[in-house]
Amino acid sequence: MRIVLLGTPGGGKGTQAKLICNYFNIPHISTGDIFRGKIKEGTAEGEVISSYMEKGQLVPDRLTISLVEERLIKDDCKNGFLLDGFPRDEKQAEALDLIMNKKNEQVNFAFLIDVSKEIILDRVLGRRVCPVCRESYHVKYNPPKVPGKCDVCGTALVHRPDDQKEIILDRLTIYNQTTQPILEFYEKKGILHKIKGDGGIQDIFSQISGVLKEA
Ligand code: AP5
Ligand code: MG
Repeated sequence: MRIVLLGTPGGGKGTQAKLICNYFNIPHISTGDIFRGKIKEGTAEGEVISSYMEKGQLVPDRLTISLVEERLIKDDCKNGFLLDGFPRDEKQAEALDLIMNKKNEQVNFAFLIDVSKEIILDRVLGRRVCPVCRESYHVKYNPPKVPGKCDVCGTALVHRPDDQKEIILDRLTIYNQTTQPILEFYEKKGILHKIKGDGGIQDIFSQISGVLKEA
């Protein structure tokens, strides 16, 4: 199964991606995580990426598409994958089709996690992440066992740098302008599934896994 997971910033893509990928045993490919990894490496490329991400702007298509293509040709993607946060505009959606065509494959599921704005802000402002192993939590909805400490490695949890209210609002505006239009792209292909995303983590997972198990 080759899946794209679409939705607003803070809507729960990463949370669901982890559950889906564990359950169906496919790799989780998050462009946000790839970029955060590049920034951590401290390379010139990482600096370019950071200059966009810190403002909540999209990283240029050329760089984004080449990193995704590089990832999708790896062996572990042979039996499927889940893309979290890619594609994010029409150019990326078309590029993904080209990459798939080259491999004689196609994306067969696109999920939109649809969440209202108030809930998005509540989720993003309460998110805490581990700066070392990148595990993600929410202070109310998905708290760590020991407050402020990562369950996996014990490191002190932090806010993501782009999780400040003004930047989130900019990320939402960009989403509405550039990502919203690609919903139609997948609707036309007949593979778009709109998932009600205001509920709990397990409820959303049941909706998505229900569609995948039926296929
Ligand atoms: P990226 O890292 O992809 O961020 P995003 O799309 O803005 O989404 P988030 O990671 O903020 O949210 P999420 O939907 O994963 O929610 P999560 O599960 O964490 O991208 C960051 C930046 O990188 C972009 O702004 C851009 O600069 C760049 N970038 C990335 N991809 C790009 C691309 N393709 N092209 C160009 N640039 C790109 O959940 C949020 C919180 O809510 C968590 O605390 C979680 O515990 C909690 N939560 C989740 N689900 C629920 C629930 N059902 N109930 C209660 N709480 C919940
Ligand atoms: Mg995410």
